[in-house]
Amino acid sequence: MKKIVILISGGGSNMAAIVRAAQREGWRERHGAEVAAVISNRAQAGGLAFAREQRIATEVLDHRQFASREAFDAELANVVDRHRPALVVLAGFMRILTPGFVQRYQGRLLNIHPSLLPAFPGLHTHRRALEMGCRFSGATVHQVTAELDFGTILEQAVVPVLPDDTPESLAARVLTQEHLIYPRAIARLLATL
Ligand code: GAR
Repeated sequence: MKKIVILISGGGSNMAAIVRAAQREGWRERHGAEVAAVISNRAQAGGLAFAREQRIATEVLDHRQFASREAFDAELANVVDRHRPALVVLAGFMRILTPGFVQRYQGRLLNIHPSLLPAFPGLHTHRRALEMGCRFSGATVHQVTAELDFGTILEQAVVPVLPDDTPESLAARVLTQEHLIYPRAIARLLATL
């Protein structure tokens, strides 16, 4: 079985969309794949409750308990590796990863970012897109490399920016597209593994 490990920090709606797509599309039968674990760096991440309801293994690793980014990432890799993942999926995981961690999972580490990369890497993407007067925004699924929000693009979705948009309304429109493209990108990659 190809195991998928999903890393979250918050609401986990992308993680839930992936879990639901796996169920709906029968990834077990079709791809020999399953979501094996959901790992959060925050104990209060909303997505953990959903994962537990789905009887998916959950783990919490609080980054504040570690003296350095390297120490956190080393333990995170230990936790991830216990599940022997074919894919490691960052889904709203709000931590910058060390080059060592990224290298360890090279080619099987994915991220979703709420902008049309390479535009607006980093934080506050929707506010920045509005400030720049963008007419379109969107979301990007990409391979993770040591450079933040960079790496080969696997899927993108475009949404219009509307005249009355706030960062929140634009984020919500983008998020509905994230829920479509992330499962699609993963299913496509699974078919090649
Ligand atoms: C999503 O919009 C995701 O693209 C973004 O955080 C949100 C998480 O929502 N990720 C980043 O900004 C990563 N740099 P979710 O927890 O409901 O999936």
